[in-house]
Amino acid sequence: MSTQQVGIVTKQFESQLAHYTSEKRGARDSRIVSYLADAFDTDASLRAAGTVRICEFGGADGLLLATIRDRVAGKVDLVNAELVEAFAQRQAHASIRFVPTSILDPAFPAAAFDVVIARHVLHHLVADTFDGTRANQARAFAELARITRPGGLVLLEEHVNPSALSCRLLYQASRVATLIGLRVPAFEVTPYTVVAFLTPAQLAGMAAKASGGALQIARQELLPVPMPIQWRLTLLRRNSGNLFLACRIAALR
Ligand SMILES: C[S@@+](CC[C@H](N)C(=O)[O-])C[C@H]1O[C@@H](n2cnc3c(N)ncnc32)[C@H](O)[C@@H]1O
Repeated sequence: MSTQQVGIVTKQFESQLAHYTSEKRGARDSRIVSYLADAFDTDASLRAAGTVRICEFGGADGLLLATIRDRVAGKVDLVNAELVEAFAQRQAHASIRFVPTSILDPAFPAAAFDVVIARHVLHHLVADTFDGTRANQARAFAELARITRPGGLVLLEEHVNPSALSCRLLYQASRVATLIGLRVPAFEVTPYTVVAFLTPAQLAGMAAKASGGALQIARQELLPVPMPIQWRLTLLRRNSGNLFLACRIAALR
């Protein structure tokens, strides 16, 4: 059973439906799209698959999946595996199959997909303790590895923070903010927002360890995020960015 605080996470995204069904969040420009477009051109095993089975966890309105469909040279079967059912009727393309499920306990058999994606999901896998949250994040990696076929791709993009201490402090501060019902729209703080970022090294290390070596990092890029002034003034978010990780599942397990 998942220990994620599902109630509070669901409330957060229900209260931010307008943002997560808009172009503003940059899903169309994700590095995942350009990486996958190249992989379709160069990776013989993807072309050989005929129809490439792609699953995105936490895809919200499916904008990233719809963009991938437009950009890659090949047939795709698209699944949006989402925790929040309010997104079900808001999918960006009719071919996207919406599956209400959790990345912590996904309703898919082993090796079900050729490509599995998670963009900005891991820092929302919050439990009621920091250690419990880290355990959730590790479990997500194990599940990503399990449901991707040997030789398949796991593509991640995730907010990161260079300081392990800041990651921990921000988790605790956001927990307190939810307990007192704090709302600061300028900082995207809602009474339901708890976040647990990782450092780039923690993220890459967790991918390898939690998957028992099955996830092999093929590409790692730290992408700076242009930040509005209120974020740059916030010490805890200074110098943060997005980590893009492309992992291949080891062929022999
Ligand atoms: C910050 S949003 C990112 C949405 C989208 N991936 C993007 O890049 O714009 C996080 C998403 O993860 C979903 N989510 C949170 N916990 C999840 C879980 N355990 N399993 C699947 N999705 C989850 C949320 O409902 C939300 O849609």
